[in-house]
Amino acid sequence: MVRLTLLASLAISSVVYASAPSAKKACTVKHVKGQDDTPRILDAFSQCAKDATIVFKEGVDYNAWTPVQFHGLSNVKVLVQGNIHLPNDMATVQARINATTNPKSSYATPWFYFQGNNVEISGSNKRNWGQFHGYGQQWWDIGNRILRPQLATFNVTNGVLRDLKVIKPIAWGWNIPGQNVQIFNHFVDAAPGNATRDDTISFPFNSDGFNFSGKNITLDGYYGHNGDDCVSVVHGAKNIVAKNGYCGFASHGLSIGSLGRDGFNSSVENVLFENWVMEGAVYGARFKSWTGGRGLAKNLTWRNIVTLNVSTPIFITQNYYDQDKGPRPPNTNKTSTLIENIRFENFGGYLNPEWTDGTCISDPCWNYVEGVDTATNGIIFDLYNGTATGIQVRNLRVHPYMKGYRATTVICDPTTLKPGEQETLGFDCIRGAFRSTSIAPRS
Ligand SMILES: *[C@@H]1O[C@H](CO)[C@@H](O)[C@H](O)[C@H]1NC(C)=O
Ligand SMILES: *[C@@H]1O[C@H](CO)[C@@H](O)[C@H](O)[C@H]1NC(C)=O
Ligand SMILES: *[C@@H]1O[C@H](CO)[C@@H](O)[C@H](O)[C@H]1NC(C)=O
Ligand SMILES: *[C@@H]1O[C@H](CO)[C@@H](O)[C@H](O)[C@H]1NC(C)=O
Ligand SMILES: *[C@@H]1O[C@H](CO)[C@@H](O)[C@H](O)[C@H]1NC(C)=O
Ligand SMILES: *[C@@H]1O[C@H](CO)[C@@H](O)[C@H](O)[C@H]1NC(C)=O
Ligand SMILES: *[C@@H]1O[C@H](CO)[C@@H](O)[C@H](O)[C@H]1NC(C)=O
Ligand SMILES: *[C@@H]1O[C@H](CO)[C@@H](O)[C@H](O)[C@H]1NC(C)=O
Ligand SMILES: *[C@@H]1O[C@H](CO)[C@@H](O)[C@H](O)[C@H]1NC(C)=O
Ligand SMILES: *[C@@H]1O[C@H](CO)[C@@H](O)[C@H](O)[C@H]1NC(C)=O
Repeated sequence: MVRLTLLASLAISSVVYASAPSAKKACTVKHVKGQDDTPRILDAFSQCAKDATIVFKEGVDYNAWTPVQFHGLSNVKVLVQGNIHLPNDMATVQARINATTNPKSSYATPWFYFQGNNVEISGSNKRNWGQFHGYGQQWWDIGNRILRPQLATFNVTNGVLRDLKVIKPIAWGWNIPGQNVQIFNHFVDAAPGNATRDDTISFPFNSDGFNFSGKNITLDGYYGHNGDDCVSVVHGAKNIVAKNGYCGFASHGLSIGSLGRDGFNSSVENVLFENWVMEGAVYGARFKSWTGGRGLAKNLTWRNIVTLNVSTPIFITQNYYDQDKGPRPPNTNKTSTLIENIRFENFGGYLNPEWTDGTCISDPCWNYVEGVDTATNGIIFDLYNGTATGIQVRNLRVHPYMKGYRATTVICDPTTLKPGEQETLGFDCIRGAFRSTSIAPRS
């Protein structure tokens, strides 16, 4: 019996051996209990930077206590079968993110930076493995927003992220500036253990799931609870599809922007959000550009969106400004980020009784809108006169919680529409009751 087993395992290992000449190199990351594993992580990534597999072993909790950057990876598969932990100490994180030379993003510096060609990072199908732990709750509890890292930047051409889990991140999750990137089954837990969506204490500020600024990016499969955008598509993004997801807690939605800050010329093109369930979110679909912005966002679609208890299912502003820092700055340049062909199709669900959430810590609130109705606004459009064209809303069936359909309202100023735009809009652009209208065929 013993001999048979031995023979069987020999046979298996000989098969592995026979294929060895064509097998890729493999590096297993070592771990030393109670120590920073960064030297060992760097070691594995330098030994296995090309044509190789790097394994974080299942059953191991790795200490990634120092920010790291990997450049020039080529044809590498990283298997995160264990868990990866940032320091569970705010002062250490702050000092180390402050000292790192990792390339910065627009608002923060990533703890991990990956750059290369043909790189895959795969997590685990097992519930408790393949996790990145940020120990964010303690930051949220005391409202610590100083020197917060973003989790990671994946600046890869031909990349895959699969089955990754982000647990209590400090703030922002993954930034994707690369191209040809496919992301599957992403999981985010950025909800506080002891607070609700509307609590200002312990709110997980800026816990965006993804930032896409790259080209040709597909996200298929997302499940998360957070306190900011699940996906935000920002300047530079082109050919983006994000589909089949769930966003809960106090999500700020499936967003494009912000664009055009400080007169910046932003560009976003070809974005599709499809098949999402938004629950408790402040927004479902959101477009946001700054007053005085420049550039163009075109061919943007949100389709098949279920909005359960969502404050504002459809929101556009081309006139954003920091309301807590004073009155709207004059748009002296008389510019905006132009919008061309923006569509919202098949929205169904009900509205949240609150129009904002625990992020409302200033007066006025960062997202206050003149005349906002606590529980009935299905659509809010704040357009810059005549600079959004091809707007279309089809089949919006969202209604106030426990009330009839007819009470759903919209905020839309008809004098901001380009002449002719009302004919193809799909609803009455007014400040008042939502009423759908037929959409004239394009001439
Ligand atoms: C961050 O680093 C700068 C020097 O680069 C230093 O002046 C500053 O005090 C540091 N801040 C913290 C909080 O460590
Ligand atoms: C990602 O984009 C959103 C929206 O522009 C922004 O709030 C957030 O700070 C960005 N994150 C990073 C790390 O740049
Ligand atoms: C991404 O990497 C490319 C080099 O391949 C570099 O030119 C670019 O600046 C990087 N972008 C970011 C956001 O790090
Ligand atoms: C877009 O990305 C996918 C997946 O990486 C790839 O198969 C496809 O060839 C890319 N398309 C273009 C136009 O580069
Ligand atoms: C959650 O617990 C932490 C730690 O006890 C506390 O500081 C924080 O105020 C609590 N949050 C709420 C909303 O009660
Ligand atoms: C609009 O964007 C979507 C999503 O990226 C894309 O599939 C479609 O081809 C684009 N349409 C045009 C006309 O470019
Ligand atoms: C006007 O445009 C200039 C040049 O792009 C820019 O520096 C300035 O911030 C803009 N002003 C406003 C009020 O947006
Ligand atoms: C924005 O940049 C594009 C090229 O990237 C250019 O064609 C366009 O004229 C610029 N727009 C403005 C308002 O500067
Ligand atoms: C909707 O969200 C509010 C918090 O904003 C919560 O009090 C309420 O119970 C939720 N309703 C449902 C039906 O989930
Ligand atoms: C937009 O422009 C039109 C035509 O120039 C004008 O009648 C209308 O009052 C303007 N609306 C706003 C809000 O400025």
